[in-house]
Amino acid sequence: MLPKRLIENEVDYCLSCIDKGLAKYKYNYFPTENKGNIYAPLHNCGWTGGFWTGLVWLAYELTGAEKYREVAEQHLLSYRERLLNDYDLDHHDLGFEYTLNSVSAYKITGSETARANALDAAEKLLRRFEPVGGFFKPWGEMDDPVENRCIVDTYMNLPLLFWASEESGDPKYREYAKRHLETTLDILVRPDGRAYHTYMMDLNYGNPIMPKVDQGYADDSVWSRGQAWVIYGLALVYGYEKDPKYKEVQRKATNKFIELLPADNVPAWDMVFTDVRTLKDTSAAAIGVCGMLEMNKLCPEQEDRALWEQKADDILQALMEKHTTRGMDLPSNAILLHGTSSVRHHMGVNESVIYGDYYYMEALTRCLKPDWKKYW
Ligand code: GLY
Repeated sequence: MLPKRLIENEVDYCLSCIDKGLAKYKYNYFPTENKGNIYAPLHNCGWTGGFWTGLVWLAYELTGAEKYREVAEQHLLSYRERLLNDYDLDHHDLGFEYTLNSVSAYKITGSETARANALDAAEKLLRRFEPVGGFFKPWGEMDDPVENRCIVDTYMNLPLLFWASEESGDPKYREYAKRHLETTLDILVRPDGRAYHTYMMDLNYGNPIMPKVDQGYADDSVWSRGQAWVIYGLALVYGYEKDPKYKEVQRKATNKFIELLPADNVPAWDMVFTDVRTLKDTSAAAIGVCGMLEMNKLCPEQEDRALWEQKADDILQALMEKHTTRGMDLPSNAILLHGTSSVRHHMGVNESVIYGDYYYMEALTRCLKPDWKKYW
C-alpha cells in the first residue's frame, strides 16, 4: 500500500489544480480538449463535461468546502437545460455525462433535480438501442446501414442504466444493459482478454462483421483506453449484477492489461506497443487502476487481489513520479500529463485530458478513503 501521507500530498496537489479552474469552468462552461496542457472553456456539449463536475464533487467530498459544491450545483442546472433542449444527447455517452454530474449529486446531496436529470438521461440513452443486433449504438443515425457498430466505451455508460432501474424500480433499463452485454462481450473481448475498440455489425441480421479501428493503431490491436474501459466498466456492471460471466471477462481483460504494460507501468496509447518510449496514454492507466480497485473492493477474496493491489500502486506511483504537471513550470491547470485522446483524429495527443485527471483523482480518493461511495 502506498503511504497515506504520499496520497494526501497528491490529493492536495490535485485540489490546487482544480482551484485554478473554479472561476473559469462554472455555470454552462466546462474544460474541453486542450492544447499545451491548458483546457479551453466550452459550453455544455460532447462527452467530457461530467468529468470536471465529478472532480469538483470529489473535491467537495474530500474537503467539505462549499466553493466546490456551489460550482457542481451550477452544473446540475446546466445539465437540466441540456436535457430540456435535447441538446447533443443523441449518442451513448449520456452515462459518462449524467453519472458524474447528476448521480453523484443525488448520492451526495439527495437533490431531486439531480435524480430527475439522471433518470431522464437514462430514458434518453435507450434511444440508442439497436433492436436487431441487440446493442447500444454509440453514434451515427440509428438506421444508417454502414455506420453500425458496437464499441467497448459503452460499458462505462451502462452503470447509469443499472442505477436507473434500482432507483425507479423499473427493470427495463437493466434489461437493455444486460442485452447489450450479452450481445457484445464475446465479440468485443477476445478469448485471451484483449479488447477490440469497435466491431462493425450487420444492420439487417445483427451479425458481427469485423473489428474496426477508431482510436487505436489497427483493427485488431489493443487501444489502451478501450482495454481500460472494459476493466472498469465490467467491474461496475458486476457490482450491480453479479453475473460470473462479467467477472470472468473483467478478470481476463485486467490480467492482459497488466501483462501488456511496459516496464514503466504506464501504457502506450495502444498496447501493441510495449517500448517505454512510445507515446503514452496516462488516462488509460488511471482508468485501469479504478477498475482493479473496484473489483478488489467488490470481491476481497478474488484470486488476483494481491497482484492487482500491487499493480494499482505501481501505476499510481509511476503517474505521481513522472506524469503530473507538478513542478513542471507549465502554465497548466491540468493534473496529469501525457494523455492521448486520439492519435487518428489528431486530437489531444500527448496532452492533458480531463478524464485522465478525473480517474486519477478518483483512484487517489479510493486509496485514501476505502469506504468512499462510488458515483457510478
Ligand atoms: N469515449 C471516448 C474515448 O475514450 O476517447
